[in-house]
Amino acid sequence: VSALPEGYTIRPLQRGDFDQGFLDVLRVLTHVGDVSKEEFEKRWDEMKAGAGGYHILVILDEKEKIVGTGALIVERKFIHHLGLVGHIEDIAVAKDQQGKKLGLRIIQALDYVAEGTGCYKTILDCSEANEGFYVKCGFKRAGLEMAHYY
Ligand code: ACO
Repeated sequence: VSALPEGYTIRPLQRGDFDQGFLDVLRVLTHVGDVSKEEFEKRWDEMKAGAGGYHILVILDEKEKIVGTGALIVERKFIHHLGLVGHIEDIAVAKDQQGKKLGLRIIQALDYVAEGTGCYKTILDCSEANEGFYVKCGFKRAGLEMAHYY
């Protein structure tokens, strides 16, 4: 079984994580915007209140600062005999923490949750530049992403 670097921990996102630098890690991935603590907590509550299915993990360094994150959303279907599909989203590792296998550990943990929840597959969208990372995590190219922006 694989381990995190000494002193690092992985756990689900908590309501108080606004102050641990959660959104700053996501800024490594994309535009986040000016999100207040109240807005963060409201969104956290909405995710918690839904029919479940949101699993957001964070990795903390030895100073309890969030240095990595990733999400698994479990989609409930009617097809495939009420099948469940995992969607991996918003994987990000702080710039100065990349290359320590933290991204790999996040994907392994989300995969474990997906399989344990009963998902028959997990899928994700990524750029060509990140394909190699996901191949190392055990994924393979399948299909094509389409998008409609509003
Ligand atoms: N291309 C090819 N191989 C890669 C890449 C890449 N872009 N990134 C990492 N790898 C390799 C590593 O070299 C390592 O290989 P090894 O086992 O042979 O040594 C293996 O993949 C595991 O790498 P990690 O150290 O776990 O990667 P890291 O912790 O740096 O995280 C990540 C990778 C998440 C892509 C990070 O670089 C990052 O946060 N990037 C910016 C945000 C981003 O692009 N996120 C992904 C968006 S897609 C989505 O969210 C579904």
